[in-house]
Amino acid sequence: MHFLFPFTLLLSVILTSSLKTLDSEQELQDSGFGQPPPRHGLKLLVWYVQSCLDNNMVALCDPIQGQYGFHLFQNRGPRHLLPVIKDKKQYAYYTIGNLHSPHAKDLPYEVKKYYNHSDPRSNQDRVLVRYNHNNKHIEEIYASAHYKLEETYIIGPDLVSSLRHPTALVITEI
Ligand SMILES: *[C@@H]1O[C@H](CO)[C@@H](O)[C@H](O)[C@H]1NC(C)=O
Repeated sequence: MHFLFPFTLLLSVILTSSLKTLDSEQELQDSGFGQPPPRHGLKLLVWYVQSCLDNNMVALCDPIQGQYGFHLFQNRGPRHLLPVIKDKKQYAYYTIGNLHSPHAKDLPYEVKKYYNHSDPRSNQDRVLVRYNHNNKHIEEIYASAHYKLEETYIIGPDLVSSLRHPTALVITEI
């Protein structure tokens, strides 16, 4: 029996941990998410953390009202990009970053400035949030390139904290 253990462990890791968690600015940097320009994801993520969240993770930008281009993310498809939400009354996913969305023009210039209509890379990055309708808290933040599973990351709580006051590592890219 013991020889099966490593195999079942490996299998359960493969089946349950499809999304990688980024826990530090270094891991964010190494993931390659949202950079270099014309990709806008890194600036979008830093702006989101600094402008749309208070210190207790309460949403300051209202995803329901569609502020800054926020809209509902359905999480459909044969392979769900994000964990399936069971309590759909209390929770939903919202996505931001599509520069064509209504109200996306309200995003800061820093986030929009590399947009190039002939280069799809300049509009592929998204920040997604799991929103609690009851208390307006953001329960989880994800960063995704074009909703591809292998380029979608959970932004861990330590990384969220450090992005509030990013070090030179991330700031040089901003
Ligand atoms: C926009 O993208 C196209 C296609 O990649 C490229 O040839 C062009 O130089 C870009 N324009 C600017 C202003 O970067």
